[in-house]
Amino acid sequence: MKEILGQLEARRAEARLGGGEKRIAAQHARGKLTARERIDLLLDEGSFEEFDMFVEHRCTDFGMSDTKFLGDGVVTGWGTINGRTVYVFAKDFTVFGGSLSETHAQKIIKIQDMALRNRAPIIGLFDAGGARIQEGVAALGGYGEVFQRNVLASGVIPQISVIMGPCAGGDVYSPAMTDFIFMVRDTSYMFVTGPDVVKTVTNETVTAEELGGASIHTTKSSIADGAYDDDVAALIQMRRLMDFLPANNESGVPELPSFDDPTRVEMSLDTLIPDNPNKPYDIKELIRKVADEADFFEIQEAFAKNMVTGFGRIAGRTVGFVANQPMVLAGVLDSDASRKAARFVRFCDCFSIPIVTFVDVPGFLPGTSQEYGGLIKHGAKLLFAYAEATVPKVTVITRKAYGGAYDVMASKHLRGDVNYAWPTAEIAVMGPKGAAEILYRSELGDPEKIARRIDEYTDRFANPFVAAERGYIDEVITPHGTRARVARALDMLRNKHLENPWKKHDNIPL
Ligand code: HXC
Repeated sequence: MKEILGQLEARRAEARLGGGEKRIAAQHARGKLTARERIDLLLDEGSFEEFDMFVEHRCTDFGMSDTKFLGDGVVTGWGTINGRTVYVFAKDFTVFGGSLSETHAQKIIKIQDMALRNRAPIIGLFDAGGARIQEGVAALGGYGEVFQRNVLASGVIPQISVIMGPCAGGDVYSPAMTDFIFMVRDTSYMFVTGPDVVKTVTNETVTAEELGGASIHTTKSSIADGAYDDDVAALIQMRRLMDFLPANNESGVPELPSFDDPTRVEMSLDTLIPDNPNKPYDIKELIRKVADEADFFEIQEAFAKNMVTGFGRIAGRTVGFVANQPMVLAGVLDSDASRKAARFVRFCDCFSIPIVTFVDVPGFLPGTSQEYGGLIKHGAKLLFAYAEATVPKVTVITRKAYGGAYDVMASKHLRGDVNYAWPTAEIAVMGPKGAAEILYRSELGDPEKIARRIDEYTDRFANPFVAAERGYIDEVITPHGTRARVARALDMLRNKHLENPWKKHDNIPL
């Protein structure tokens, strides 16, 4: 037995070396950790149970019979993050550049099936060169099987992707179908076709970083939901994110002990709104002051900054915050902001995460670039997402709620459960100046008259009371009491039960 155990240990040690010490050193020299080092950091210490570490590829073409590595370029298994089960796979770049073979795909598929069957989240760590070129269609078939499982698991268990090296060709589409993608700055890039193919086809010269680095995908394409400086920072943040997320779509949100009094009063919020209605203020200050311990995990922080989305907790339970940001473009709704918030609202609704919306929006952004870019369709995504969401929805209008944007931002009319307004709220079809100039066009030559008309419109509509008279606002609340009121509302809504009519699926404008 001693000898057999020794052989087992020797085989395990060989598997743990992946592509060998030289390639591990090269990985480290690039500032990257190995697949196993990453998993160790991601999961609770000693909790990782590896599967299929002795799997080898079965390819016989291109001299591959002589080149085999135990594990075949991907490390898979399960473990815990702060005690909660997660499934994980990590591409091992030291073995054939982490490329996907038929057997490599089977290892991932096994983990995907287990995660879905056992209703626990799955995290994929990517660092790979796409399909195993030597295997041809067998690798393509493997990708297809992975993609199919991504789709079936969507909305049932959280799926997270972290890009920690190259992610090219077939590797990009599995992350693209997961709930969130995070990247590591400077060492990771994602594209369907790399710089060489781009040069051949379009004659465009572009570096990998310019084509698909973290800065591009967090600011321009919106493919990535966040980026971190190195592997360690990314993995620590993934542990933090997992604490916010439910295990599956039926488990309900995690409930952590909170030492932050839900009735905490924040007097500083009474002076958050500047006297001048056209002056900006930072909506993230409100989010942090309402959330437990000011803990806010922002999603897509660098993209469409006029909209803020992310997770926090109130009374220990996860909520999704969605808020217009007056600091950027006055918080206007444009195509990017609408898409960003729509996807976030749908994630929250999938996983029964209540949504807290803070509204300060001057309307939709006018202009040809927006209209040509499909503002109608993108704005409709957010409208659709809020309207179909059945999770608890608590809304607070802090200042402007103008025009169609008033309707869209989780209004009462879209089944908002509790809709509050601060006394500074202005709920109207448009701003007083614009309204007076349209209604009294003939008086435009007389500045005094127009100023009076603006004052009249301001008196009538630049307040929350016209909406409150109709019951479109449930109550006008004090800014300093916002946390307590939102916390009470969420508590009251704990057993909310609302179902949409049966359908195969909806047809959200894509
Ligand atoms: C087999 C691969 C490989 C691949 C890399 N390697 N990619 N082996 N299949 N796809 C191997 C290399 O031969 C090398 O082996 C090792 O991995 C490291 O690769 P290097 O090129 O030395 O590393 P680096 O310079 O860092 O470049 C990384 C890279 C590059 C940018 C990822 O390797 C690359 O461009 N690879 C090919 C990418 C690609 O075109 N993939 C196919 C996409 S098509 P040794 O033995 O020297 O360590 C696709 C279709 C699927 O995926 C579509 C489904 C929808």
